[in-house]
Amino acid sequence: MRTTILSIIVAFLAIGCGTLYLYEVYDRDSQLSQLNALNSNLDLNNSSVLVVGATAGIGRAIALRFAKANASVSVVGRTVSKGTALVEEMHNITSSISFGSNVTANSLDSGKDRHAFYAYDVSLLANARALAEEYKQTHTSLDYLVLSPCIATIQGRTETTEGNDVKMTLHYYTRIALIEALSDVLKTGKGRVLSVLSGGEHSLYTGYSSDVELKTDYSIANAANAAGFYTDVAFSILRDKYPHLTLFHSSPGFVASDWGTEMPSWLRVLIRVLQASFATSTEACAEFMCAPLFDDTIAKGFHVRGSRGEVAQESVGIEQARDTVWAHTLDVLK
Ligand SMILES: NC(=O)c1ccc[n+]([C@@H]2O[C@H](COP(=O)([O-])OP(=O)(O)OC[C@H]3O[C@@H](n4cnc5c(N)ncnc54)[C@H](OP(=O)(O)O)[C@@H]3O)[C@@H](O)[C@H]2O)c1
Repeated sequence: MRTTILSIIVAFLAIGCGTLYLYEVYDRDSQLSQLNALNSNLDLNNSSVLVVGATAGIGRAIALRFAKANASVSVVGRTVSKGTALVEEMHNITSSISFGSNVTANSLDSGKDRHAFYAYDVSLLANARALAEEYKQTHTSLDYLVLSPCIATIQGRTETTEGNDVKMTLHYYTRIALIEALSDVLKTGKGRVLSVLSGGEHSLYTGYSSDVELKTDYSIANAANAAGFYTDVAFSILRDKYPHLTLFHSSPGFVASDWGTEMPSWLRVLIRVLQASFATSTEACAEFMCAPLFDDTIAKGFHVRGSRGEVAQESVGIEQARDTVWAHTLDVLK
């Protein structure tokens, strides 16, 4: 009797979860169709885009999405073979673009040299600054800056040769350093910035007052929460410092990217199985991440967005943490 009742409960739970999951997929796909219809003929000709962390995953899909919209896209990563292949793929997209009114990318320019790859390891802040300087040698304006470099590990605090934790650097310090170094070209362009991280998803990192650098109490959760929380704090400051910027901190949700490449192989296999079963594709994620960037009606300032581009809440506790977190950030960046 007890076994029968248990079986019925398990069956109901399984049916409930399955129904919820199917509804979630249906809802996501219908939102995606609406976005596709809205932005399919978007023509960003003459727009310049820089995507950092673009040789794989979400950054790569965002770069391709911008190329499909006819923009000039510069991509950054460490892996030269992937970077050059991506540029080639974007050139092919550009030369085949055809918009409604007989205007084609081909007729405007050959598409050649429109996209570029910059090989940089931006886990070092010196490299991030060098990247910004190199970019500015050939570009006088920047319309869209997308920040998506990522490392996912289960190891503890791991210092770069500059003495900063590598995860905190890729997810936070480098991104702020690039916004600062590119603020002048962002001013002459549209100045729209997207950090793909954990907007609206992370918790408050309460250790900011006692262990702002995460030197004594490092954990996967603390590193994730600190990077997300510090981003909200910094963006609320950069909004006032650079009123010409539109800053988005977005959370991509669970995405079938290359996330976890540095994890132990048993864990990577598990991640790939879960991704194959439940994750959003990188292409769909890019469409959702780009939607607020493409929407020129969104005012300048700081915006937090969720995995479908919807409005999400910024962190609690920003005001109290403002001085401490920003003083620490400036100290790391100097
Ligand atoms: N995927 C998810 O489910 C998920 C969930 C929540 C949040 N996120 C966030 O989304 C963002 C993008 O993640 P993703 O899933 O697209 O990651 P990913 O697939 O692992 O891609 C990471 C990208 O960053 C580049 N990169 C890594 N280290 C670098 C370095 N030192 N210098 C320059 N580039 C570097 C990689 O290229 P190279 O190896 O060629 O350098 C690659 O292009 C991250 O901020 C991540 O925290 C992702």
